[in-house]
Amino acid sequence: MNLNIALLPGDGIGPEVLAQAVKCLEAVEETFNHQFNFREAAVGAIAIERKGKPLPNTTLSLCQDADAVLFGAIGDPKYDNNPDSAVRPEQGLLELRKALGLFSNIRPVKVFPALIHNSPLKKEIVEGTDFTIYRELTGGIYFGEKKLNTEGTVASDLCEYSEKEISRIAHLAFKAAKNRSNKLTLVDKANVLESSRLWRKVVTKIGESYPDVTLDYMFVDNAAMQIILNPSQFDVVLTSNMFGDIISDEGSVIGGSIGLLPSASIGEESALFEPIHGSYPQAKGMDIANPVASILSAAMLLEHFGLFEEAMSVREAVDKSLRKKIVTPDIDSKSQYGTNQVGDFIAENIVDNGDDFNMNDE
Ligand code: IPM
Ligand code: MN
Repeated sequence: MNLNIALLPGDGIGPEVLAQAVKCLEAVEETFNHQFNFREAAVGAIAIERKGKPLPNTTLSLCQDADAVLFGAIGDPKYDNNPDSAVRPEQGLLELRKALGLFSNIRPVKVFPALIHNSPLKKEIVEGTDFTIYRELTGGIYFGEKKLNTEGTVASDLCEYSEKEISRIAHLAFKAAKNRSNKLTLVDKANVLESSRLWRKVVTKIGESYPDVTLDYMFVDNAAMQIILNPSQFDVVLTSNMFGDIISDEGSVIGGSIGLLPSASIGEESALFEPIHGSYPQAKGMDIANPVASILSAAMLLEHFGLFEEAMSVREAVDKSLRKKIVTPDIDSKSQYGTNQVGDFIAENIVDNGDDFNMNDE
């Protein structure tokens, strides 16, 4: 397969972790005879510095022309501590999601058996956790009208959803549930918010066309509690932009490190793959950031294009690195391995098991 992949390293540890994902994709390319063409562009704080805006036109058009985008991380403390700054790095990612129509953000939350003791939660609670969050990504409070009165004393952000915005992601979530354990939980705040009541109405109606899938509803405050009390009750979680942002960070705690969780953002014409973690500026350039989330995002990219064996080989190499404790310090504080060494190990262990199998057969 021939794929054009846009690389957007972004800020902080973004470039370091993305480089490890690229190493792994190159190993896949070689092992399975594909051709991946990589082209890089700036986004976020680095793009503000170089080109004056967080999403330069050249970056956007590179992404529009590519088959997929692989994203590093975004954000810089310089802007976080300056609420008056008119331009901020995160706008680059938000504009990109909107411009590429990436309405569905898929965030799998799983526990690696090798890391069960890394979780701050008890083993009995964590065991068997395997759910996927479908987070709406181009609507809601993130993109609603923003206001600030002239005195700068009153501000508001509108949370608006249309039936269309809800139904397109709901269909994807129901389909995912059908391929998993047939359970879908809609997380909302329908006891308070009108927009949540619209979600319930639309999702309930769509549920009628997926009779195999059991649909249940949970208020987001309760969901925040249930995710750490009893995570294995969840299969597919469907939710709005902001609630999905919050509960996915919470979900990342279950597995022991936010450095492990990948995501896919899918639209009708584009797809972007990125770790759920931020730019971790304190670790920038220190070779300590965990590259696994970025590498698993690359595995999700491969799956998106139907390259399942290839994705499996990446996942198996990741599992091996965890079993052999070739891990960054977030997983094992005494670890001597850095971002690059972990990336090298995983890339070197990408093998074509299918072919071995055939050879043994003959
Ligand atoms: C995420 C991030 C982004 C978000 C930020 C960087 C804008 O937290 O992808 O979860 O809030 O969506
Ligand atoms: Mn987030």
